[in-house]
This record gives sequence, C-alpha cells and structure tokens, in this order.
Amino acid sequence: MSKNINSLEQYKIEYAKSIENPEAFWEKKAEQFSWHKKWDKVLSWDFTKPELSWFEAGKLNITENCLDRHLKNKGDQTAIKWIANNPNEQSRCFSYKELHVEVCRFSNVLKGNGAKKGDRICLYMPMVPELAIAVLACARIGAIHSVVFAGFSAKSLSDRINDADCTILITADGGFRGEKITPLKDISDEAMDSTPSIKKCIVLERTKSKITMKSERDVWWHKEMQKANSNFSAEIMDSEDPLFILYTSGSTGKPKGIQHTTAGYMVYTEYSFRNVFQYSEGDIYWCTADIGWITGHSYIVYGPLLAGATTIMFEGVPTYPDAGRFWQIIEENKVSIFYTAPTAIRALEAKGMEFVNPYDLSSLKVLGTVGEPINEDAWHWYDKEIGKGNCPIVDTWWQTETGGIMISNLAGVTPSKPSFATLPLAGIQPCLVDEKGKEIEGNNVEGRLCIKFPWPSMARTIYGNHKRFKATYFSNFENNYFTGDGALRDENGMYRITGRVDDVIIVSGHNLGTAEIESAMDEHYNVCETAIVGYAHPIKGNGVYAFVICHSKPNNEQALRKEINALVQKNVGAIAKADKIQFVSGLPKTRSGKIMRRILRKIAAGESDDLGDISTLLDPSVVNEIKISAQ
Ligand code: PRX
Repeated sequence: MSKNINSLEQYKIEYAKSIENPEAFWEKKAEQFSWHKKWDKVLSWDFTKPELSWFEAGKLNITENCLDRHLKNKGDQTAIKWIANNPNEQSRCFSYKELHVEVCRFSNVLKGNGAKKGDRICLYMPMVPELAIAVLACARIGAIHSVVFAGFSAKSLSDRINDADCTILITADGGFRGEKITPLKDISDEAMDSTPSIKKCIVLERTKSKITMKSERDVWWHKEMQKANSNFSAEIMDSEDPLFILYTSGSTGKPKGIQHTTAGYMVYTEYSFRNVFQYSEGDIYWCTADIGWITGHSYIVYGPLLAGATTIMFEGVPTYPDAGRFWQIIEENKVSIFYTAPTAIRALEAKGMEFVNPYDLSSLKVLGTVGEPINEDAWHWYDKEIGKGNCPIVDTWWQTETGGIMISNLAGVTPSKPSFATLPLAGIQPCLVDEKGKEIEGNNVEGRLCIKFPWPSMARTIYGNHKRFKATYFSNFENNYFTGDGALRDENGMYRITGRVDDVIIVSGHNLGTAEIESAMDEHYNVCETAIVGYAHPIKGNGVYAFVICHSKPNNEQALRKEINALVQKNVGAIAKADKIQFVSGLPKTRSGKIMRRILRKIAAGESDDLGDISTLLDPSVVNEIKISAQ
C-alpha cells in the first residue's frame, strides 16, 4: 500500500508534482494494484468531445483488487461488519476470505441466471451485506451494476431499469428502516409490469414479508446460493470498461445515468479514501450513507475494500430506536473514522445531548461530512460534542459525477476551516469562472466551480446520452468540467461551496431535480402548473417549496396538498415531498415565458421586501399576490 500524505509540506510537494506531471503522479498510484496487463498510456483526453481514457489498454478486475489481493495477508481480517436496524439482532461479520467466497458464489448465481459481461443489472435492496456482495459480484462477472436507492418509488425504479435496459433485478422481500418495513418486492413487481427487458428477478429473504413469486422470472437468493460453487475466476476487464451506472437528478425531469469505468475509479477511490481520512491499519471505519448513493459506492464498498480496511455497514436510521443509535454503534464497535451527512448531524444535535452523553466516543479519531454545505453551528457541535475537540473534521466536497472526494482537508494534515471544504486533493485542479467562462484568478473571489484537468474517477458519459453529458458538463464553460456549484475562494486559497447554481435542490444531502418534482405534481388533474424552489430548512439544509396553479379553486386546500404530495411520493419518492405548497393564480414569468425562480426563491425565503427589478415580468402584479399569501 502506498504511504499517505502526512504533512502540509508533503501535501504541497505532492500537489505541485500532480500538476507538473499528472501522468507520472497517477501512474505511481496505479502501480500498487494487481493488473493482468499494465496500461499502454496513462491518459488521453479531449474535453471538447468529451473523451477520456485512463490507463488505456490495461487489463484488470476491480474485485481482484478489493478481495483476492488481500487474501494472503488479511484473509481473516473483517472486511465488512454489518449492523442491523434492530439493535437486538445479531450483527454479521465477513472476513476478506468469507466475502471473497460469497462474491464468487453470487457471481456463479448471476451467470447461472443468464448474466454476462456488459449486461446491466439493477439492484433495489436494503442495506444488508448481500447488497455489497451483489455489487461486487456484478463487477466480478463484468456486468454493470445500477443500484437504485430503496426509498425510490416503483415508477422511479422502472424508469431507471428501462433507461439502462437492465436484464436482471435483484431485490428483497422487504427492507427494515426504523419502525417501517419497505415492501421492496411489491414495489419491484409494480415496476416490473413495465420493464420488458427484465428476464430474472433474484429475491433475498430479509423481512419474511408475504410476497408473490412469479414462476420462471423470480428466484430466491438463498436457494440459488445453496447450489452455487465458491470458485469464480474474475472476468478480465479493460481499464475503460464500464463498472456502474448511478442515477442522479438533473435540471430536466429525466434522471441522468452517470457512468463510471473501471481502472480510474479504482485508483482514485482508494487514493482519496486513504488520504482524506488518513486511514491506517487497524482503523474501524464507518460511513453512514446508503449504497444507493455515490457515497456508499465509493466509501462503503470500493474505497475501503481496495485499501483493505474494515468497513461498517448499517441497515437502520439515526433515530431508531432513539437518537443515540449512532453514538451507541460507535461505542460498541470502537469506530475510529466516522463519516456522515450534515443533515444527520443537525437532526441529532436538535435531539439534545442526553442522547450523546451516555456513550463513550473516545475511539473516534477522524470525523467527516459530505453531501451539502455544513453550517458553522453544526460544524462546531460535531467538533465539540462528538469529536470532543480532538478529531479533525473533513468536509468533503464531491459529486456522483466526480466518483470520489475532490476538495477536502486531509484529516489532521492540512488545515480545516468551519464550513469550508478547503483545498483540492493532490491531482485535482479546480477553478472559478465568471458567467462568461473566464477564469477568475487570485484569492478572495467567488464564481462558478469548474475543474480544468481530468482526474481518474471522472464520469465518462451519461448512459445512452453522450450529447446530454456534453451539454450538461462541458458546454457551459469551454475546456472545463462544470460542477453546477457556486463557490468562493478565501484569502488562503480555500474553497467554500455556496450551493447549486442550477435547478437542483439538495435536500437532506440528496439531489432533487426541480423539473422531476414539478412533473410529478402536474399529473394531478387539478394542477395546471407548478414551480419548485428550495428554501433554508433547519434540519434538511433545504426544504422543497412548491408554488402551484390550479385549474379550479380547491375546496379543501389541505386535502389537495396531501394528494399532490402523494403523487410526488409515487413518482419520485418520499424524500421529494414538498414541505410547503402555496396555491397561486399565476407565476412570475418573463415575456419569453421563463419562470423567474429568483423571485420565488426570495419569497420562499421570507425575503420578499427585496425582490430586485421585477419590471421585466410579463405581469408584475402577480408577485404582490404571491407575497401576500406566502406561507
Ligand atoms: O452541491 C454539491 C453538494 O452535493 C452535490 C453533489 O450531490 P451528489 O451527486 O448527490 O453527491 C453527494 C455525495 C458526494 C454537489 O454538487 N455537496 C456535496 N458535498 C458537499 C456539497 N456541498 C457543500 N459541501 C460539501 N462537502
């Protein structure tokens, strides 16, 4: 294993090297992995197309690097420790050897059910070890996994399956989350009514809920595993063969299937994991994300396993059975690195110290946050009450599209600053640009955040829609990858992410596209038009505020709000439900018909006294009416 960067001076040296000669920098990182054949060329790129290839013509399988490579020295070390939703249920541990066996067996199951290299396989599962096993088995046979978060609706699931033409769906009879059971198989059945590409559905028994199994199509996980052989030689993949697709919301109603490839993703997730968290042998690492999001892909499964770490996987929620659950798990498992989201921190802070005080958190060495800006208040609470002032906090900025952490302090090595993601990792070249795309040089400046040079774990395309990939990320500002975020750079060159500048709202750390929610609401027979904006929410970071025009005046506004939100839940998922719905008779539109969201954002924020120039509106009087009835 390469050594971590371990001082600020060394970071500066490494950073300089990574800019002067990126190829040599990354080649060195790649050399520690197992390859069937090494690459011919480290990097080819052209942002105008965009085209990218890292470690060209290299041959490997990422799971040999996650598993086989560790068998000799760490075969008996715990790879995954799983903790159940219910604190009375026994946890389960998989050593590297055991995980290897399970992945090989499930690879045989997939093959036995007709899967082959290049097929897309959809995973719609609870947070159980079998989800990680299925992810790795897909990679081992060379199939492309598409994990869909188990909180999404049947419609969201079928849209994603159809977009990628998945041939197999892996799900469970149900999933436990807090007090609730999510009927995953029932939802899958509803989705599969409109997914002609699915030939097989593999069902894990988890909740023992009553479900129906359709003969021919549906098979039980445990029955298939009983028959499966535990040897499986990994499919040899090309560096640039796709590894997975993961959907993220964009500024149109249709989610984007972000596609990542094999070698670059492997090199970068391992490198960033070790350096950001300053992982060292013996650490117990816990990331509380769900594998349904990129954080779970890169920093529950791939990064930690590539680094040979022990990674904890938790099935439940932070407040079940009470708001002390995270802290109890940390104490019981002697967690040393803890990585969570600001929304969870804020929610637990609000519950009070009586849920923290009973637990011994002295095993903690490093704390992390991800997914949205962390406000200073929450940062200080996390630092003082959880880290007891002894644990560096890494504020990690990155995206589904970047594959790995891009801007973050390195725990205890480079400086931290509350609410700042701080400095780019060595190898990453961020820049700020103005509206015209001109780079803004110097410090104490603000602009749109772009990355001007490729890095290995960069998304390669949007599945089936390279045109949209180019239009979304590479067309706004010439020769730059555009992140969609705004940022400022302080006097020391540290970055603070100020939030999205496009039509995406980050709610509890989850990306929601306004267009997607609007089109779900528009399905209601009495809804004529909607406009969604975000507003500051004390726990969720942002809340969803909907302005809705009805065809006919509702008799019962409260009932209509419920019906509208039920449609959002059905079409997108419960996380996208509006916190506030205001009925209006018109929306502020420009003469060309574009909704001026800037005005709606101000009204939603309660700042309607300062709306700026509204004279360009088609009908400025509508603004007054909206202001008066604002919630
Ligand atoms: O706006 C940024 C915000 O989350 C967006 C990416 O969302 P997603 O693709 O779902 O990935 C989330 C997990 C990596 C970014 O464009 N974001 C993420 N991390 C931070 C953040 N905003 C501020 N600070 C962060 N640390």
